[in-house]
Amino acid sequence: MLRRTLLQSAIAAPLLTSCATTPQLGAADPMAPLPHDTSSYARPDEARVRHVSLDLTADFERKAFHGKATLDIVARADAQEIVLDSKGLIIQRIRAGGRDTTFTLGDNHPTKGAALTIQLNGARQIEIDYESAPNASALQWLEPAQTASNKRFLFSQGQAIHNRSWIPTQDSPGIRQTYDARIVVPSDLKAVMSAETLTPNGQATADGKRAYRFRMPQPIPPYLIAIAIGDLVHGDVGPRTGVYAEPSVIERGVYECADMERMMDVAESLYGPYRWGRYDVLILPPSFPYGGMENPRLTFLTPTFLAGDRSLVSLVAHELAHSWSGNLVTNAVWADGWLNEGFTSYIEGRIGEALFGVEDARMAQALAWADIQTALGTVSADGQRLHWVGEVSANENSSAITYDKGATFLRTIEGIIGRDRIDAYLRSYFDRYAFQPMTTQAFLADFRTHVVRGDANLESRLMLDQWAYEPGIPSNAVAPQAEGFSEIPNYVQAFVDGGPAAAAPWEMWNTMQRQRYLQTLPRTLPAERLQELQRNLALDNIGNMEVRFDWLILAVRNGYTPSEAAVETFLTTQGRGKFIRPIYRALMDQGDWGRGVARRVYARARPTYHPIVQVGVDRIVTPA
Ligand code: BES
Ligand code: ZN
Repeated sequence: MLRRTLLQSAIAAPLLTSCATTPQLGAADPMAPLPHDTSSYARPDEARVRHVSLDLTADFERKAFHGKATLDIVARADAQEIVLDSKGLIIQRIRAGGRDTTFTLGDNHPTKGAALTIQLNGARQIEIDYESAPNASALQWLEPAQTASNKRFLFSQGQAIHNRSWIPTQDSPGIRQTYDARIVVPSDLKAVMSAETLTPNGQATADGKRAYRFRMPQPIPPYLIAIAIGDLVHGDVGPRTGVYAEPSVIERGVYECADMERMMDVAESLYGPYRWGRYDVLILPPSFPYGGMENPRLTFLTPTFLAGDRSLVSLVAHELAHSWSGNLVTNAVWADGWLNEGFTSYIEGRIGEALFGVEDARMAQALAWADIQTALGTVSADGQRLHWVGEVSANENSSAITYDKGATFLRTIEGIIGRDRIDAYLRSYFDRYAFQPMTTQAFLADFRTHVVRGDANLESRLMLDQWAYEPGIPSNAVAPQAEGFSEIPNYVQAFVDGGPAAAAPWEMWNTMQRQRYLQTLPRTLPAERLQELQRNLALDNIGNMEVRFDWLILAVRNGYTPSEAAVETFLTTQGRGKFIRPIYRALMDQGDWGRGVARRVYARARPTYHPIVQVGVDRIVTPA
């Protein structure tokens, strides 16, 4: 309590004097204007969805949800219609205010889908009878063989614009909606959602299935509506934290996530109360396409973070941090994605520092700094900006910019204004804009109002506009120095000079030191050196998947054929896009051998990948 008072008093004066000049995007007014979102058909200034009520049945035979969505709407008095986003949905019937109404489905765009325009006839509630398509891009319907339990499984991935493939709503991150749901599933499976569970064990239905009910009373951007259905059990971590997983994974999951309750305490002490009730994580089957996804109350996680030694839990810190940056204050458009991911990566670092110490945090920063340098050499100027201008295509944008340059921006501010001031500012920012959308422009205006306050000298030292709007890294950035990495160049040199792999203190190193070593070895190494590494360090099947990835990418880039079986295993036993795409890319760059391996393995693995990853790899692994 004392801390809270101190932090708030630090920002009290500017708050009182200059509120009026701060843009209040999407504030209490449910029709507050929003910046134009190029990836949505919605026209939220005319009519806006405020609440989504789902009544859906999961049909595993047909790989489809079918049922009804009831939408509550706010609209201008003169609004005749509402425009929703939809992608591949089969619409059977729509009612407005209880009576059948007319609707049109526009042309289908491969990623954006089609506009669904519905005549309101004066009503403010519409009911849509529909079903999703078997190839809905948000959904992966798994065969029993793809799960630990050998039972069917379904999960959704909404970010960025996939939820329109299973929910007819306005799928734009600036629009906030509450939701509730009734989900009917086969009786041997359990449903979980990014919401409060009202029926932990479900209820039997007349036709021998089970119905689960959920409720999300806080308004969230629609990409955060999420569902999973499978053979799931729950294990407690702390009083308000826990893990869902298939039964054979739960013990390892609870062990790996032991720090979760402490992470929450740290985040709350820095940035104010956790506003979502419980925090659970769900460990998905290995085809989950991301490391993690910050679905509110229920983070989705890849099982590839289960290293057995808690060495990859910064992933959990990251997804938890989104409970403030992203889920509470949300980028209004995806062109400002750094407001979600850059802020979150900065907070992830602060949580990590509080739990594991400053040296650990510096190593993470140094790895990220190296990723930024690589991106500056490979990404186009447009792709190097935090705020995207125009349409930045998928192959131009880089997480090293959105995540790491974004976090470095905040760390640079911290270095200049001091930790107390940035902490007080961020805490006030999350309070001021809780449950509201944010833009780069509004953030900078708010920061100037509350921190810079016309100090011309401070303004010029911060270089705020250059950070936010220009390519590259501004000159006030300070390269992180990690003591734990200082000897690594010597070990790399000794190895390059022909020394034994065992000369490096591999067994003493933590995961980040191992990654640094592998990432700073020369890109080109003779087969003999690669064999020496693999034989001594058993890298082909090392349990830590981040380290294994760093090894396999090095092996593939050198056309190291003895690791072909390990590459195949890696590509066929998990489907995390961040691991999968670069390996296929490296294989395709390897002439006949690599292309042959890529095409053969992908033919087998493709059906096991999530639709989002399939789309990405289809572009990489082209037919002969
Ligand atoms: N929100 C992202 C995942 C995401 C990003 C999904 C863009 C769809 C589009 C999530 O919080 C994330 O950043 N995950 C990272 C892990 C993190 C530790 C950097 C990932 O999946 O690798
Ligand atoms: Zn993230």
